Amino acid sequence: MTNDKKNNHAKLILPEGKIVTLPIIEGTIGPKVLDISSLYKEVGMFTFDPGFTSTGSCRSKITYIDGDKGILLHRGYNIEYLASEKSFLETAYLLLYGNLPDEKNKSEFVNAITTHTMLNEQISNFYKGFRDNAHPMAILCGVVGAMSAFYHDSTNINNKEERRIASYRLIAKMPTIAAMAYKFSIGQPFVYPNNKLKYSENFLNMLFSVPAEEYEFNQVFSDALDKILILHADHEQNASTSTVRLAGSSGANPFACISAGIASLWGPSHGGANEAVIRMLHKIDDVKHIKKYIDKAKDKEDPFRLMGFGHRVYKNYDPRAKVLQKIAEDVLKQEHKLENKLFDLAKELESIALNDEYFVEKKLYPNVDFYSGIILKAMGIPISLFTVIFAVARTVGWISHWNEMVEDKKNKIGRPRQLYIGEKPRN
Ligand code: SDX
Repeated sequence: MTNDKKNNHAKLILPEGKIVTLPIIEGTIGPKVLDISSLYKEVGMFTFDPGFTSTGSCRSKITYIDGDKGILLHRGYNIEYLASEKSFLETAYLLLYGNLPDEKNKSEFVNAITTHTMLNEQISNFYKGFRDNAHPMAILCGVVGAMSAFYHDSTNINNKEERRIASYRLIAKMPTIAAMAYKFSIGQPFVYPNNKLKYSENFLNMLFSVPAEEYEFNQVFSDALDKILILHADHEQNASTSTVRLAGSSGANPFACISAGIASLWGPSHGGANEAVIRMLHKIDDVKHIKKYIDKAKDKEDPFRLMGFGHRVYKNYDPRAKVLQKIAEDVLKQEHKLENKLFDLAKELESIALNDEYFVEKKLYPNVDFYSGIILKAMGIPISLFTVIFAVARTVGWISHWNEMVEDKKNKIGRPRQLYIGEKPRN
């Protein structure tokens, strides 16, 4: 294949000598793309890329990741700046609308989200249908999908105002739904949202306050939670965001699409890794066992992987993990014996792994899930809720990508092809 500099095309020479010209398209920053959309029509062959390691699925202006340099930008702003200078709702506004809000836009947006925090009271009946040991992600999947049965006035995807209200309802109600899932699992009464509180304070209040006592706020915890939500808000075309886009490409309503995203995020290779990291650290238990687990992770015959390590895009330190390590230092100053032990174990594991040639050669670094669980655990959030917290944050990214896709005039239903390796026709 040659790259024809002049016309910015590549030429594909097929075995029988046929030559196909493929346009090369350039984005604002990052790798160029080969436009193969006409390939099948021209040559009767598909490309083949299971896992989409070399395939771009769409055009997007929302997030850019430079995996080699460990850079993450949301609408051009780096994640370190957003996590240290902005709130989760300001970041949500940025992802949704493309710019950071000025004071007027910010207060209008915060008020709009705040006035959507309550759920239709009938939805609370769903929780009684679950067993009390149901995983909160299972409840989240079910309840969010069921929202389309309640909010019919915001399911017409071709109506801009309905898309806006559906987006605000999802962002506003996810903490309420998540907190109710937790309260249900511990047999405590649901706590209604308190619209005097900020987003993350309100979330912690719904999780931990009880009618019998005055709830004491911990500012360090609510600040840490707000930053954790920012760090998990969006991440380009990851598995769950691609799931939301694919579901949305058929014209499905936004609640159904977000429910599909939640299902995809639940997997231990994706958002479920934060829960898996804590379980792994408990299993390792002591620094003297680290080598055994590093060897297991390197053993091809052993399915064990070092959870919280490695990434499809980052071949350098995940910038979010760096910020989370700093947040962990701040939160753990609040006297958390067990989590300090886990944190020290995690830091020791990281330093040993980063000096091991297997991890160095494969460019496996800590990712966003490596430290997040330690912070959440120190804040009293149970392990079963870790991926739920991730889903609450990522709802902002999912709905931003869903809106971008629906508004894209070139948007078509996603329908990949395959390499068929089954039976030939037979009687
Ligand atoms: C998230 O996509 C996103 O942006 C996701 C996310 C987001 O914000 O949306 O960043 C959130 O999902 C973070 C990732 C959380 N998952 C984990 O921490 C689980 C452990 N990590 C992996 O399973 C793995 O690294 C993935 C799934 C994250 C990435 O897998 P890839 O890109 O398909 O890489 P791979 O499996 O092909 O691995 C390349 C090599 C393999 O060895 P070889 O076959 O080449 O010999 O590295 C090895 C793998 O065996 N490897 C690991 C490893 N991760 C990869 N070996 C040991 N431990 C690991 N964690």
